[in-house]
Formats: sequence, C-alpha cells, structure tokens
Amino acid sequence: MGEQLHLTDENLPDTVRQLGLAGPDEAVAVEAAGDGNINWVRRIRLAGGKSLIVKQARLALEKFPEYEVSTERIVFEARYLERARPFDFDRVLPEVRAFDPAQRILVLEDLAGAERLDEALARARDISEPMTRMARFLARVHRETRGAGAELASEFPNEAMRRLHGDHIFLLPYREEFPAPPETAARAQQIRADTELTGIAERAYESYLRPTGPLVHADVQPTNLLLRPDGPKLLDAEIAHAGDPAFDIATLIAHLVLPAAVRGDLAAARPVARGVWRAYSEEHGAAGRASLADVLRYAGLELVRRTVGAARVRFVESDASGLAVLELGTSWIRSPERCEPW
Ligand SMILES: Nc1ncnc2c1ncn2[C@@H]1O[C@H](COP(=O)(O)OP(=O)(O)O)[C@@H](O)[C@H]1O
Ligand SMILES: [Mg+2]
Repeated sequence: MGEQLHLTDENLPDTVRQLGLAGPDEAVAVEAAGDGNINWVRRIRLAGGKSLIVKQARLALEKFPEYEVSTERIVFEARYLERARPFDFDRVLPEVRAFDPAQRILVLEDLAGAERLDEALARARDISEPMTRMARFLARVHRETRGAGAELASEFPNEAMRRLHGDHIFLLPYREEFPAPPETAARAQQIRADTELTGIAERAYESYLRPTGPLVHADVQPTNLLLRPDGPKLLDAEIAHAGDPAFDIATLIAHLVLPAAVRGDLAAARPVARGVWRAYSEEHGAAGRASLADVLRYAGLELVRRTVGAARVRFVESDASGLAVLELGTSWIRSPERCEPW
C-alpha cells in the first residue's frame, strides 16, 4: 500500500464525491459519529438529508496512538460483512455503500436512531427480544461456516488484531497491573498470583487462537451493538477470524450479566442470558455446537478483563461493583461446568 490518504473533516467531502456517493457539486456536511476507540469514524450528511457512516482504519489507533496495528483489519471487516450476509435474515449487519481497500475506507449505511447496548444495559431496559435475535444470527453464521475449514482461515489471516485482542483478554490481566480502585486492585493482585486461574486463562487463549473453525466476529460487545426499532445491529467486525465460536456468544452473555452482577441481582439477568443461550443452541443445532462450559469460561474471562484489565467498563467504577463482577467471573472461569443452573 502506498502513502495512505489521511481523511480529515476537510477532505472527506471530496473523497465522498470521488467514491461516487455524492454528485460533483453536492454539499456534504461532516458530523461526529459514536466515540469509537480504534478507527476514524464520521457521519456525513448529503444535500437531500441522506446520511452515511465513513470509517477509515489507520496504523495508529484513534484513542491509543501508542498502539500500531495493520490497517488490513478493515479488509477483514468488509470480508466478514460479505461472508456473513447470506445468513443475515434479520438484517443485523449494516449495508456497505462503498469500500476502498487501498485507502482502507469503508462506507456504511447509517444506523442512526439507535440506542447502544451499553446505554440500554445502564438503564436496565428489557432487551430479551433483540438479544435473542442476535444470538440466532451468530448461531447461523457459525453453523453455516463451520464446514469451510482451512479455506475460511486463509480468507481471514487477521493475526495482528486477533492477538492484540487476545492479549488483552487472556494475558495482560494476569500479568500486569492496570489502574483500579484499591480493593479491586488488591483482588487483581491475588488473581495474578493464582496459578489455577492463570493456567486456565492460558489454555483458553490457546483455544481462542485455534487456527480453523467457523467465522467468528470476535467483538460482540455492547459498544458494537445497536438497538433499533427494526431490530438489533452488529458493527465493527475488524477482529473477525476463523476460530472458536464459543467466544462470540460468551462475550455477549458476559456483558448481559455484568450490570446485574454489579447490582447484586444476577437473577434479574438470568432470563435474558439463558434465553440467549437457548436461542443460540436451538438455531445452531447440536452438531459442532460450542459447549456451555466453554462459553461460560470465556464469559468469566471477559468479566475479569473488563474489571481489572485495560478496558474497564463504566459499571465497575466502585470497589463494591468490581468485586461482585470478579467473584462471578472467577467462579465461571474455575468451574464453568458447575455453574448450571446459572
Ligand atoms: N453504520 C453505523 N451507523 C451508526 N453508527 C455507527 C455505524 N458504524 C459505527 N457507528 C458508531 O461509531 C462507533 C465506532 O464505530 P466502530 O465500527 O465500532 O469502530 P471502532 O473500531 O473505532 O470501535 C460505534 O460505536 C457507533 O456508535
Ligand atoms: Mg467499536
């Protein structure tokens, strides 16, 4: 790839015209969109009022410029959208309006008017129905791509993103200290010294890195899930790879139970978490399906890294909430098979 055109609010209108998305003299207004951490993302508004989302992948990550990761990640995002689309009966995925692989620019349908899942969780909105639909979508993609084998893996050589993400889940929380309130930090230190937990995390990392398997989105977390009146939407497939399907449904379940664990009311989240697992299981069918134990182990690891890792979630600001999440997370990591009924 030659020198990348660095998109700015100033040069974006011309780029949009060159991509054929606006007429040569059409006005193009640029607005902020979301608060993504990794990529440069903007909303553009065309003369007729129609809007689009423009995403550009750059070597240095937007909010963590000290990290540099291959911009090829956006090629895998576009490829995920293409490979998963045939199974997207519920229109969970955004439509692609343009893709410039050379400049690493992806233009998507604007899914405005949505509430992000983290916001919905913060106000304890009932999200059973959209989450069930999301689970069914993931199950279909996993089921329909699991026979693709090495060929699928060769289409998604997304090692840089896969490892960066994996290190933050399975390694760093068990090796390094991250800022956290005092009691949470003390508990984190015990976790780092616990060879049973660190050993399980290491083995789970090996499963996550397994070289083949169905198409996994790998970042089914609340800031990538939008709830629209017409149904749930899934964004940001830049970590997509062929791998362990348990990882996708686990990430979703972890985030569905986390706020309830904070409130000391896990029972409140059980119906939605179980409903998600049931919908996933039914839609997938038994052949080649992930086990609930593998799912809960990954979910436990996600709960821990969201409390004592680099990407803490807003729900664990206080020690009381952090400790509650760590208790649930470590029990799922240690003995996921004993967590039924969960
Ligand atoms: N198609 C879209 N429609 C509406 N909002 C979007 C769309 N794509 C992204 N966004 C907003 O931008 C944010 C960042 O986009 P995302 O694809 O997740 O990039 P990043 O990799 O930087 O997280 C999302 O959390 C969402 O709020
Ligand atoms: Mg995102």
